[in-house]
Amino acid sequence: MESIWEKPVSHGEILKKIWKNLDLGTLEREHPFHTPVFSTVANGCVPNLRIVVLRRFWRKPPCLAFHTHTGSPKIKELQNNPNVYWLFYHPTEKLQVRIKGKARVHTADDLAEEQWLATEFFSRRCYIGEAPTEPSKKPTSGLPEDLLDRAPTREESEAGRANFAVVTSTVEQIDCLEMNVRGHRRSLFVWNETGELETRWLTP
Ligand SMILES: Cc1cc2nc3c(=O)[nH]c(=O)nc-3n(C[C@H](O)[C@H](O)[C@H](O)COP(=O)(O)O)c2cc1C
Repeated sequence: MESIWEKPVSHGEILKKIWKNLDLGTLEREHPFHTPVFSTVANGCVPNLRIVVLRRFWRKPPCLAFHTHTGSPKIKELQNNPNVYWLFYHPTEKLQVRIKGKARVHTADDLAEEQWLATEFFSRRCYIGEAPTEPSKKPTSGLPEDLLDRAPTREESEAGRANFAVVTSTVEQIDCLEMNVRGHRRSLFVWNETGELETRWLTP
């Protein structure tokens, strides 16, 4: 019988490994799952991708979150079309995780408030500054001049609150590829409309 790395494996074990890496991604700055690629649909049908920082991961029901500036173009893209993809890769575990979901933008609810309170003053500078993706005549950090080399005080940092958004995303589907010299293994996890999990194996 063909052995895919000797010991039989279940979808449950693979999902545990994915959850563990997503947990670590929110906790450890150096973890490869800390900075996934997040993809939106722009202008109706054009894909748009960028790196974001994974800030939260909830298991039941599975949900992911990152922070952003309310003026960033991805906010409009999400409001026009909530379909998103996340892409994670762990180079030593040789693990690729592709997550499909639907996004929601939070600006004035309990989650936005909780995440704002958890954001360091230094990081709050990004929200005091200009929105990303604005054209500029010269190279610019977008930050206020006097905050280039220091963290804002708590009071100064509150100027960023109005520009702060949390983007959450449901997890509708996970496509997981584990690479191995003895043959890769690919598994699919689909949460149906009633929230039940269906699993499949795919050829890599
Ligand atoms: C390592 C890294 C982490 C980043 N984290 C975030 C983030 O958490 N949120 C965010 O909005 N942009 C983040 N960015 C910047 C985005 O990749 C992107 O340039 C910016 O958000 C503008 O994207 P948009 O024009 O698609 O809205 C990060 C970039 C890098 C390289």
